[in-house]
Amino acid sequence: MSRIVYVNGQYFPEEEASISIFDRGFLMADAVYEVTSVLDGKLLEFEGHLKRLKRSLSELNMPEPSVFNDLLEIHRKLVNDNQVEQGGVYLQVTRGVADRDFVYPKDVEPTLVIFTQSKDILGSPLVNSGMKVISIDDLRWGRRDIKTVQLLYPSMGKMMAKAADCDDAWMVEDGYVTEGTSNNAYIVVGNKIITRELSNDILHGITRASVLRYAKEAQMIVEERSFSVDEVKSADEAFITSASTFVMPVVEFDGVLIGTGKPGNVSKRLREIYIEESRNKAI
Ligand code: PDD
Repeated sequence: MSRIVYVNGQYFPEEEASISIFDRGFLMADAVYEVTSVLDGKLLEFEGHLKRLKRSLSELNMPEPSVFNDLLEIHRKLVNDNQVEQGGVYLQVTRGVADRDFVYPKDVEPTLVIFTQSKDILGSPLVNSGMKVISIDDLRWGRRDIKTVQLLYPSMGKMMAKAADCDDAWMVEDGYVTEGTSNNAYIVVGNKIITRELSNDILHGITRASVLRYAKEAQMIVEERSFSVDEVKSADEAFITSASTFVMPVVEFDGVLIGTGKPGNVSKRLREIYIEESRNKAI
């Protein structure tokens, strides 16, 4: 079945939707995006994603699309029209269409594209098996806190992981893990949950913020600091968070089993809490 997608104020069957070859998102990766999860046909953490979108746009001096205040309504319509029970809504804003030039164009209307993807997030086999992860150098630019569409290096990272018969890659800078290719990274040592502190070096995950809040509410100890590759190998547990995976256990890192080599109790508990809480708050 063909999806209905949203492009610049209009809804189209996906085959009929298009944007200009001069769009700066296409020519310069001059664009930002958000992925909002859907469970039970409802949106998770919508306010958080909207707030981060606003920040990404502002950091790049990119104007907000004129329909910014209608984004919830547009998301809901697409989820309903496409009958998405579980999956996500992808939103991309580009600086707009202008003849190719490094200098930003003036007074250009941003391009806005939104589409849905149905996906079985809850039933991923990785929940039970845990993920195998490799380390790769973090070769991305220095403003990883802005959610731009410059995803070539993360794509290369996932392909390197696949070639090594693994599920994903964690990126490493100066011996310390920054984050996963498309997720935030955590280790558990004793009773401590350790994840890198927020800075320009990592994306400020919406799932990360909620999971850390729930962990603290459940009296777990959270330490926000950089952790080394060696610490991962000797950790009791590891896991990732993102909108498209929630909380997902990591059981192997560069060929070394983490803890028992099975999904750990802290990761499992946090996944349960996250799903329950987000379900209750979904809109
Ligand atoms: N990725 N770090 C990176 C580099 C990411 O690309 C993502 C999200 C995250 C987690 O952020 P959040 O919890 O807000 O989803 C961390 C999305 C899901 C993607 O690119 O599909």
